[in-house]
Amino acid sequence: MRVAILGVGAIGSVFAAAFAKTDVDLILYSRGSQSAALASTGLILTTVDGDVEHHQPDRWVVSDLEIIEPLYSCADVAFICGKSNSTPALAVAAEILLRPNGIAISVQNGMGHAERLVARLGKHRVLAGCTTHAAMRNGPGEAQWTGRGAVRLASLDESDLTPDDRRVDDLLNLLDISGLNPEWEFDCAEMLWQKLLINVAINPLAAICGVRNGELLARPDLHEQALSAMLEAFQVATAEGVDMSFFDCEPELKRVLEATATNRCSMLQDVMAGRLTEIDSLCGEVVRRGEELGIPTPLNQQLLTLVKGIEHSTKTG
Ligand code: PAF
Repeated sequence: MRVAILGVGAIGSVFAAAFAKTDVDLILYSRGSQSAALASTGLILTTVDGDVEHHQPDRWVVSDLEIIEPLYSCADVAFICGKSNSTPALAVAAEILLRPNGIAISVQNGMGHAERLVARLGKHRVLAGCTTHAAMRNGPGEAQWTGRGAVRLASLDESDLTPDDRRVDDLLNLLDISGLNPEWEFDCAEMLWQKLLINVAINPLAAICGVRNGELLARPDLHEQALSAMLEAFQVATAEGVDMSFFDCEPELKRVLEATATNRCSMLQDVMAGRLTEIDSLCGEVVRRGEELGIPTPLNQQLLTLVKGIEHSTKTG
């Protein structure tokens, strides 16, 4: 099997290191100093158990933004791991890299990624996904796996891409032997909303306050705000008709905060690096969907505005 990882940031690095220990061929699609490091010195990953793994650069082929022709139509699977705002570009790259029957899976934060992939590849070649593994990037070619979670996958509505299909079965096996803990879900919307709820609770507050995830549990004032943002989003999900009856916000938030207590969430990492954040596809998506349904989401609106303000001041100095 040949697997492409598109967007090799923190989570993409965890996937790359996990797959590097199997017999699959790997293509890493990355840019700038990260792409140069992966191609020249490889990847150093500190695992959840504190082990330091060095994966040599000859373990994979690195493609910079311009994909060379020998890599066209050669991948069986493409994992889209980049930031939310890179999805349109990564969908184009997936279309170039994948074989005609190759499958693309987004494990990014936020909503709407699978739909973008479908627009290029068709529903029969896309699975919805998300991950609860937590990771941080320490610099080019260096990352830390800070919290062990799972990779959750689901079929899109009216798609026949299920574990009965050999390609999906192989993919689940690969995730399993790589130690990435795959979970097959039967309700795609419920799966994506559950992850979105966790992200709107943690990411904006941690980014605005500049704190690690554990602080949102340790400090009652922050914890209350995180839970309120989550409950607002929960109302929107329910109003959309998503069955959230098995999802209990408070214990779920506590569980994730405990599991990722030492982590700087992805949005805080983006703010610290002066990058655009994923706020539009997190709180922005809650606000937009809330407006469509007539559900007020003032806290998500406020978090959206504040994070946008931080992005703006970083850009303008
Ligand atoms: O975006 C993130 O950082 C992660 O999704 C999570 C689960 C909030 C852990 O930090």
